[in-house]
Amino acid sequence: MIQLTNVTYSYPRAETPALHDLSLQIPAGQFCAVIGANGAGKSTLCATLAGFVPHFYRGKLSGTAKVAGIDIAGSSLAELAGTVGLVFSNPFNQITGARFTVREEVAFGLENMGVPPAEMAPRIDEMLRFARLSEQADQSPYALSGGQQQRLAIASVLVMRPKVLVLDEPTSQLDPIGSREVFSVLRDLAATDEATVFLAEQKLEWVAAFADRVLVLHQGRLVADGPPAEILASPTLSQYGLEPTRYTQAARAALGAGFRPQHPDLPVTLEQAVEFFR
Ligand SMILES: Nc1ncnc2c1ncn2[C@@H]1O[C@H](COP(=O)(O)OP(=O)(O)OP(=O)(O)O)[C@@H](O)[C@H]1O
Ligand SMILES: [Mg+2]
Repeated sequence: MIQLTNVTYSYPRAETPALHDLSLQIPAGQFCAVIGANGAGKSTLCATLAGFVPHFYRGKLSGTAKVAGIDIAGSSLAELAGTVGLVFSNPFNQITGARFTVREEVAFGLENMGVPPAEMAPRIDEMLRFARLSEQADQSPYALSGGQQQRLAIASVLVMRPKVLVLDEPTSQLDPIGSREVFSVLRDLAATDEATVFLAEQKLEWVAAFADRVLVLHQGRLVADGPPAEILASPTLSQYGLEPTRYTQAARAALGAGFRPQHPDLPVTLEQAVEFFR
């Protein structure tokens, strides 16, 4: 579904590439998270998958990047819009400002795609239910909480049925309650197994809870790639400026204090921590 081959990208006038020789394949239906310290290249990678690199940011892109078989550099942003949807960190920036209600906001993309009105209403209703915004359907998007606004942004993208959903730290601007609301929607999405989701995220507890696969970026290079339990418990994480989850930290501290678990695997989720400390 996503296929990168030797992708190197430099922003205009940058001395070093923001992405360095990235090669990776993400099959359809996979929920893939990318982690990395500030400046590692997470946002640049998200922008590349959505075509903002190179169509908006320009600069120099080499190698090939394909989404659903479409060559990103060889297609326009408009062509890509039906295939890959991008959700940014700040929900406020994604509201069009051109629509008065939540329902109209979700309709916006469908109208642009020329979806017939009769088909639109059920799709919008379904999406509002999924994003848990049915009760807010007739409110102004600006009257919503941050968590609701971000779910609106996700709904507005998902309603267009993109093959790939890319989210760049969708909860970094939200409080813990708003973050939880957004992640519970993402969890539902992951459970469908149909959506290919690519998520840049700093909150490793959430990554551990539902990503199928974790990529680690460090200075624009892909330095680790594997299942969450393996990547997030790895002692090399700190070399890349990342802190393990609180569960891994607690387990390491307990081992240091002489605790001997029945199974030696370090936990990265609450469920695994319960097993570890049993
Ligand atoms: N618009 C831009 N123009 C020039 N350089 C940029 C631009 N955006 C990012 N960079 C540079 O590219 C590199 C990767 O940045 P990027 O924003 O992709 O990292 P990130 O992993 O998303 O970081 P963060 O955790 O802070 O969001 C950094 O060195 C950054 O300074
Ligand atoms: Mg970023």
